[in-house]
Amino acid sequence: MNFGFGQAHAKAHLLGEHSVVYGYPAIIAPLLSLTNKAEIIDSDTTVIETDNFSGSMYQLNYRFSGIYNLLVELLNFFESPDLTFKLHVKSNIPSKKGLGSSAAYAVSIVKAFCDYFDYQYTDEEVFKFAQIAENKNHGKSSGGDTYAVMAEGPIFFDSNKDATILKLNTQAYIIIADSGTAGLTSQAVQLVADNYEKNPTVYGGYLKRMGEIADKGREEIIADDLKDFGQLMNENQLLLSKLGVSTPYLERLIKITLKHGALGAKLTGGGLGGSIVALTDKSETAKEIKSALSKSGASESWISKI
Ligand code: PMV
Repeated sequence: MNFGFGQAHAKAHLLGEHSVVYGYPAIIAPLLSLTNKAEIIDSDTTVIETDNFSGSMYQLNYRFSGIYNLLVELLNFFESPDLTFKLHVKSNIPSKKGLGSSAAYAVSIVKAFCDYFDYQYTDEEVFKFAQIAENKNHGKSSGGDTYAVMAEGPIFFDSNKDATILKLNTQAYIIIADSGTAGLTSQAVQLVADNYEKNPTVYGGYLKRMGEIADKGREEIIADDLKDFGQLMNENQLLLSKLGVSTPYLERLIKITLKHGALGAKLTGGGLGGSIVALTDKSETAKEIKSALSKSGASESWISKI
């Protein structure tokens, strides 16, 4: 009996979501404790089982056409269009929270198929396949999430859609909090596109500045300067708010982290809900921020070393 396994993890944008859709760079950190695991085994009939779906390929196409398209492409690539299989996907990444759950789904499935067919893949190949689902899900996906959910360290995702790992030589912690409200990535991407179309000079200026911030952030990481990196996160948040994708509740959670000693904080991912991310260089401060966020109503929070 043939078996294949694939895994991917969550991510948080430290700098540059939205502007990354317009070709500017972004810095994205992996959240290794939140994972998505896919298993594929031979079966007489094809069944796909996930945390919120169980059904055939036909039913999958109806509910999750991005993943359906991805599976069709994978079966064609492996010259097995008639293969029948059981695909089981299990995730502890909250969905619609700006944490890259959809990219992690797609990447773990691609890796499980490669394992099943004993195929040595490159990250670029996984990326190309996973983007079939991501582009369908988000309308227009930058691809940054897809690399970040595969990476073992923070990545600098550049305008050529290449990802390089950034090495930090000092202690750094990020605290991620789920606001409890759903992030609306495709609506947020559309909102930014509409605003940009209405006023390209102003909104184009915001997006360009966000790109400059991500470039500067890369230099600060190379220089191990977390204080300046935190300031860049704060400026990035101001611009996200001007783009129209922040919410009063996200702003409130961000303020709480800064009050408890965060070096910088912002929303992460598409916004209009979802999660925030805060930065500190001290593990005690990280714990204090986490506890303050829980007391303020954040539904879940995590500390991750970067
Ligand atoms: O909300 P998430 O985790 O899917 O992140 C979206 C990030 C955006 O920059 C808004 C979109 C993209 O494709 O990069």
